[in-house]
Amino acid sequence: METSNTSTSTPGAKALLRGTVAALAISSSLAFVAPSSHPLRSTAVAASRVTRQRAVAVEPPAAAPATKDAKPDWEADFRRRQASNELMHVYPDKVEVITSLEPMVEGMLTKLLLPTGEKAWQPQDFVPDLTKEGWEEEVKEFREKAATLPDETLVVLVGDMVTEEALPTYQTLLNTFEGVDDPTGTSPSAWCKWTRGWTSEENRHGDLLNRYLYLTGRVDMRSVECTIQHLISSGFNPKIKKDPYKGFVYTSFQERATKISHQNVARLANNAGDGNLGLICSKIAGDESRHEKAYQAIFKEILNRDPEGGLKSFYELMTDQITMPAVMMTDGHDPDLFEHFSITAQKLGVYTAVDYANILDHLVEIWDIEHIGGLSGEGARYQEKLCKLGPRYLKLAEMSLDRVKKMPKTPYSWIHGRMA
Ligand SMILES: [Fe+2]
Ligand SMILES: [Fe+2]
Repeated sequence: METSNTSTSTPGAKALLRGTVAALAISSSLAFVAPSSHPLRSTAVAASRVTRQRAVAVEPPAAAPATKDAKPDWEADFRRRQASNELMHVYPDKVEVITSLEPMVEGMLTKLLLPTGEKAWQPQDFVPDLTKEGWEEEVKEFREKAATLPDETLVVLVGDMVTEEALPTYQTLLNTFEGVDDPTGTSPSAWCKWTRGWTSEENRHGDLLNRYLYLTGRVDMRSVECTIQHLISSGFNPKIKKDPYKGFVYTSFQERATKISHQNVARLANNAGDGNLGLICSKIAGDESRHEKAYQAIFKEILNRDPEGGLKSFYELMTDQITMPAVMMTDGHDPDLFEHFSITAQKLGVYTAVDYANILDHLVEIWDIEHIGGLSGEGARYQEKLCKLGPRYLKLAEMSLDRVKKMPKTPYSWIHGRMA
């Protein structure tokens, strides 16, 4: 999707403009095979290899219930068969690793998620309470501060809010990661508790930004709502292909990207004179920061347990490009709405192609990719390539950013057709 006023001269620059980067010329085959030196591989699992390619229906266990009324524990049986790779998976070895990480994830539930409910922050804590005496004055002051925001900041905030509001898509995505998936909807597995807890925290982000924007009276809420509905119904494909390793590289990357974006909007809001929005965006960035830590710790442990498989997934996902979650965004009129939003965000310095390259560099550094030892020839090649990717992307990003800064403004239905 490219419009006459947003054209770029190279495919790499165009990809960066979309918040992604140019793919390297490699084919990205699915990671079906894990290294034979896998530390968690057991003889029982090895023995099950011969039956792996055969689909096994997920049915209640054959054993008779202990009492007449007792029902077989369908989920316990599912997990047992999943962990022993009796069920057909695309990535059986990765499911083993994911299963072995469950105690670590259980610990993260209390360390990296906040308590739920009364003790947690809620969107209502940051906006005027319309049930209280004097709410009219409070709303008036709230709107006066919001009136100081430039249209460009408002547009970027709407784009961020729409992205957060597509949360159903992201919870669906997490449930496609093999070994992490919730087979019932109320699974007591640590992975599933994590996903539900994470979703409950993320749900506040879209709610709060939506409520803020509504109260400012500065945006066309109907157009914004149409955009949210379009985005959720379109979905998105981040090319994770059910691979839990790629899934946690993706979430590690995206949580940092959203943290950076919200922090930058907070800074712009504070500078403009809207401390309310500054506080709101900082609070949300705090959640993203905790989530970032969790996902990065998970992938670090994946690398410890399966360095070859982890490196391969990391490299393939990065060269396939990180697809931005709101890439399918449209208001029903502008088919290039995401590109336009991305240009405005880059011009404002909220989230740029340089940030993309820096996030990749950050991940390579905190996962200490350079010093992973004991690799096979293939693993060492992925390691070497990953260490070179960041600087290479940074060069492309700087070139594309220069071009983006010269691009013209676009009319946005979100702000009643004004240009930003
Ligand atoms: Fe969020
Ligand atoms: Fe997040």
